[in-house]
Amino acid sequence: MNAGIIGLGSYAPDQILTNEDLEKKIDTSDEWIRTRTGIEERRIAAPEENTSHMAFKAAQEAIKDAGINPEQIGLILVATVTPDNPFPSVATMLQEQLGASNAAAMDVSAACAGFMYGIVTAKQFVETDTYSHVLVVGVEKLSKITNWEDRNTAVLFGDGAGAVIVSKVSEGRGILSFELGANGSGGKYLQQDGPYLTMNGREVFKFAVRQMGESAVNVIEKAGLNKEDVDMLIPHQANIRIMEAARERLELPIEKMSKTIHKYGNTSSASIPLSLKEEVMNGKVNDDDVIVMVGFGGGLTWGAIALKWGR
Ligand code: COA
Repeated sequence: MNAGIIGLGSYAPDQILTNEDLEKKIDTSDEWIRTRTGIEERRIAAPEENTSHMAFKAAQEAIKDAGINPEQIGLILVATVTPDNPFPSVATMLQEQLGASNAAAMDVSAACAGFMYGIVTAKQFVETDTYSHVLVVGVEKLSKITNWEDRNTAVLFGDGAGAVIVSKVSEGRGILSFELGANGSGGKYLQQDGPYLTMNGREVFKFAVRQMGESAVNVIEKAGLNKEDVDMLIPHQANIRIMEAARERLELPIEKMSKTIHKYGNTSSASIPLSLKEEVMNGKVNDDDVIVMVGFGGGLTWGAIALKWGR
């Protein structure tokens, strides 16, 4: 039996920062941001709202949705590059807050591909019967490492969290295939350099357009499926033009690609679980649907999963 997702949760802070709000702070325009990125607004955590708090909210919901007790969780993986502190990890903070007394806990650092790395790691432990339930959280408070005077990056990012419980699911469902990868030689293109995130947008764009399509095609082939079998593509929400390139590579109609970037911006490791939750909630993902999730990020890193939905 494969590992799959049995519970889902998400959290977005209340405060909305619109493109118009940004126009007042930096030399940019709503028109530029919309047409170049697809972003209309993003959520920003309050100064006192930590990464661990957002993670806790999403995790609590995922545990409830899965119908398990926190004590049944064997491992907590938190994908984040914006932890409250370098240590203790956000995962150990969650372990305490949730009362997950039997769980091992660690953070996973793979930037925007972190959630993919977390899910694939969880799969290994579940399918070898090491742990029955693994909590995987993607959470980011990017606002605290954003240089609000740098228009190249300030318009792109937002805060939020998404969480899933990975456990064994019925025969034929669950994770069908995956791909993870890294290319450290591109690390300089997207990094935290001192207090702030810095980026070479053009280089990241070129890499992302190529890698998102390639990884998506690879997991479809590894699962023994064809492009037509895909019911929903959930790409990392970094830029609508990058997402569209992946969709075109899979020859999917527009309604088969998840799009939440307009309201959340790029929430890094949170973007895929946030989007998945919305598609499931809106009835766009149903039992036995084939979902392809694909992400890329700083490192450079990338990851993709083909999954048949359902418990
Ligand atoms: N508002 C207005 N103008 C802006 C701007 C902003 N917020 N940011 C950049 N510009 C300007 C640039 O200064 C440049 O002006 P110039 O030609 O006078 O130098 C012009 O817009 C075009 O810049 P360019 O870099 O060619 O734009 P682009 O079409 O490549 O879009 C990004 C820029 C950042 C949106 C795009 O490169 C991108 O999305 N890259 C990937 C980023 C990403 O996904 N990062 C996260 C990975 S997880």
